[in-house]
Amino acid sequence: MQDLMRKLKEAGAYIRKQIGDMQLDAGLVLGSGLGDMAQEIKNPVFVDYKDIPHFPVSTVPGHAGRLVIGELEGKNVLCMQGRFHFYEGWGMDQVVFPVQVMKILGVKNLILTNAAGCINKSWKPGDLMIINDHIKLTTSENPMRGHNEEELGLRFFDMSRAYDPDLIALAKSVAKEQGLEIKEGVYMFFAGPSFETPAEIRAARILGADAAGMSTVPEAIAAAHCGLKTLGISCMTNMAAGILDQPLGHDEVLETGLKVKKSFSALIKGILRKI
Ligand code: HPA
Repeated sequence: MQDLMRKLKEAGAYIRKQIGDMQLDAGLVLGSGLGDMAQEIKNPVFVDYKDIPHFPVSTVPGHAGRLVIGELEGKNVLCMQGRFHFYEGWGMDQVVFPVQVMKILGVKNLILTNAAGCINKSWKPGDLMIINDHIKLTTSENPMRGHNEEELGLRFFDMSRAYDPDLIALAKSVAKEQGLEIKEGVYMFFAGPSFETPAEIRAARILGADAAGMSTVPEAIAAAHCGLKTLGISCMTNMAAGILDQPLGHDEVLETGLKVKKSFSALIKGILRKI
């Protein structure tokens, strides 16, 4: 058995020991400012990242991170409270390790959320966007670079349905039901941690991007590789660099996240109910 498979199975076995034979309906990764939903999970089992074999562990105080596993809207979810970003210095393989562990645990659907800069000028901060595709040209790093684990997925794998059409349709119908005007578009990955320059954002718009962000894409690639159905939802927390005549800051990102928390979490819960 290859090394990655061994590590994934050891991590999976440890988590299994904590949750028994519970069947997991969905994995949930909550973006900046959107993390509160984990507190609504019923009968939660908490699994600290530091206790899971081979899991990346943040050395930043207060950023320990844990899995919260339990019931939300009648579904068994495994929620990551704290995700790993490339800009923190993790390798792409470490960033996506938790997604691969979800696969080992039998998770079928993955919901990835994030805060993003809004490139599309006809949208505004607070808008939610279903990701229907992504662009990753800003780094040639790919999480699946290196030895391929055939047990997980193919060496060369399709990305044309990385964002699952059925889950997109479901998200749209739930939004409609809730009277939420939801956008749909293309998320462009930037490695960060610097925000983009105005010129980079102009270039991204020409390339067809609607939103800019520093997460989600590595995880979506790993999920496509191992056959996890993925739904991505971005919260436009700010207009991207150079659109407004003002500097960008993380405060703005958190502030908008706070404002849309309610409708965002209602949407995710509505989707979970029907998944
Ligand atoms: N750029 C990249 N990532 C982000 C942004 C942004 O403007 N806002 C929130 N996350």
